[in-house]
Amino acid sequence: MFNVLADLIDLYEMKGVHLCEAYSDIASEALDVSLPYSTPAMYGMVATLFSSEKMIAYNLIQNSIDEAKGAARIKIIAERYAPPALEVKMNKHVAEEMKHSHQFLNLLPLTGYTYEREDKQDNKKELNNILDFDDDLQKFICRVHSIEIRSWTVLRIYMKVIEELKISRMEKAIAVLQDIMNEEITHVLYTGEQIIKWLNEDDKIATVLKDCFAHTSRETWHDLANMSNYLADNLLSLNTAKDRVAGGGAAIALVG
Ligand SMILES: [Fe+2]
Ligand SMILES: [Fe+2]
Repeated sequence: MFNVLADLIDLYEMKGVHLCEAYSDIASEALDVSLPYSTPAMYGMVATLFSSEKMIAYNLIQNSIDEAKGAARIKIIAERYAPPALEVKMNKHVAEEMKHSHQFLNLLPLTGYTYEREDKQDNKKELNNILDFDDDLQKFICRVHSIEIRSWTVLRIYMKVIEELKISRMEKAIAVLQDIMNEEITHVLYTGEQIIKWLNEDDKIATVLKDCFAHTSRETWHDLANMSNYLADNLLSLNTAKDRVAGGGAAIALVG
């Protein structure tokens, strides 16, 4: 599997970002072998999901929804709390996550399924839940940073699975996934640089960063468990003739 820590250090090196000691220590501790999304368990789960076109369809829709949700939250925090230079970067981030949302949805025809829009009332409620959001700027950026590292890695797993398992229908998706992944890398880098800057000014956010990494890891293990439960409930109906799918698989998205 991927060595996330080594790959992350390479990214910073390529960009000429100097890591401070606090960041290096926290990342080394958080991104070790216990990192759920760099385990064979995650590879196996993605391979299992990608063995079914219907599951790929659910996954694409859920990723599309999560990208849009992520974008909405970044927009809220950028408008409320970000200083101008950071706000510019966050607005670029918002536009890219919205672009990813469309890109995931546009891959749906490759699966042979179409998107069945859910109840408008439910959507409205969901939208209100998303907009009813607030967070501390530093905590938010730390959380986003840990999630972006996951998105980048999970996209690499998607591409590896498609190539290694020769999922021919999805081969055409590789270029799009690569494009999304390149932008996720820029999200990893700008949030990382910002955190390093904050750590250099005042190391009290070290604990926040540590907690965010731990939170994302724990959440990802729970996501894997939820995916198993989802398979238990839905696997038998996967091969039915229905050719439209809704974004019901809340448990099967990891990219944002
Ligand atoms: Fe991202
Ligand atoms: Fe994204």
